[in-house]
Amino acid sequence: MNTLFIHIKELLQTREKSEVKVMGKSMSELPHIKNAFLRIKGDTIHSYGSMNSLVIEATDKVVDVTDKIILPTWCDSHSHVVYAGDRSQEFVDRINGLSYEDIAAKGGGILNSAKTLQDTSESELYRQSISRVNDLIKLGTGALEIKSGYGLNTEAELKMLRVIKKIKENSSLKIKATFLGAHAIPKKYKDNKAGYVDLIINQMLPKIHQEQLADFIDVFCEKGYFSLENTSRVLQAATNYGLIPKIHVNQFNAFGGVALGIKHNALSVDHLETLNEEDIAVLKNSETIPVALPGCSFFLNLPYTPARKIINSGLALAVASDYNPGSAPSGNMNFIISLACIKMNMTAEEAINAATINGAFAMNVSKDYGSICVGKKASLIITTKLSSYRQIPYHFGNSPISKVMINGEFIY
Ligand code: NIG
Ligand code: FE
Repeated sequence: MNTLFIHIKELLQTREKSEVKVMGKSMSELPHIKNAFLRIKGDTIHSYGSMNSLVIEATDKVVDVTDKIILPTWCDSHSHVVYAGDRSQEFVDRINGLSYEDIAAKGGGILNSAKTLQDTSESELYRQSISRVNDLIKLGTGALEIKSGYGLNTEAELKMLRVIKKIKENSSLKIKATFLGAHAIPKKYKDNKAGYVDLIINQMLPKIHQEQLADFIDVFCEKGYFSLENTSRVLQAATNYGLIPKIHVNQFNAFGGVALGIKHNALSVDHLETLNEEDIAVLKNSETIPVALPGCSFFLNLPYTPARKIINSGLALAVASDYNPGSAPSGNMNFIISLACIKMNMTAEEAINAATINGAFAMNVSKDYGSICVGKKASLIITTKLSSYRQIPYHFGNSPISKVMINGEFIY
């Protein structure tokens, strides 16, 4: 099917293929064409330009999008969307005064989700998870990274990764899978953390490699979770199997995790609610991209990642949803863009760059996603009637979307 969009009010994020990430001051530039056309052939962007340069040729479908904006779908590079049940009781407990850490110390939190997931069948886990993924398409997400990490034993971690694989096979979204066995220490290993790391390295990783279930490796490098030494052991072992590191780091404490991630050539370092000068300095000497998760700060009432400090230092920044049952139970990237502007002082241009081109970089899908570029996949958001793209973050909580095209097909 070939589709031609005409009279596009603004065609956003038009880039050359060689541009895979925007950094520092360049993040405030959002290339766009006013009164544009966009031609799709099959699943691919064939050509685009201003309406007065449109060459007439036969096409299956012409869509007049007068007053509407078109932009690439969101690339959400950090999610835990495969989970069982929910943690709304903990939400109530927090409203009544307990902290996220208090709840985790009582055996709630990640361990609570792990217990529920271990007791849920693979088919039921798939049913719950694919329905969340399908809802995300309607909100404009076109590429999604999904982590394991609520299994915490070999059988349940494999179950999660097989569910992610099935989502990959059955969804039109671009999916990347991350093994996060090192998400929390199971109760059984409370006094033997190194023993759990041994299990990850000697039992889980070889099976995951055998079934080719993961693209990335992740570790929650944090006090009370995985130390620098244990993080390093997991990253080294996984790298030997060809997995690329993307780590949870500096959520509550900064103690050298960023430098450790960079030492292991991490693609991204995610969270960074606390960030010191040393972290900034090592990031500047690396290809690793920082990823902020403002939905988590919003939901847990925690400090936000210092986006201005990161961008003003000349670094790139991506934003992602962190969609998970405990710290960010929403995958709405439109709201993430609003939070980036309202709470992290990012401009609309910076926020949209962070959620498209830089998000694609943070999940290794820049070849096909993240910008409007000849030869990339036709995965597009067609907005409602808007006066400018600035209205996307401005109308926080509203959906700016009228239609979503994924790989050349209207899905919503
Ligand atoms: O990215 N910080 C670690 N992991 C998740 C939260 C997991 C949970 O509470 O279930 C996060 O915020
Ligand atoms: Fe996370």
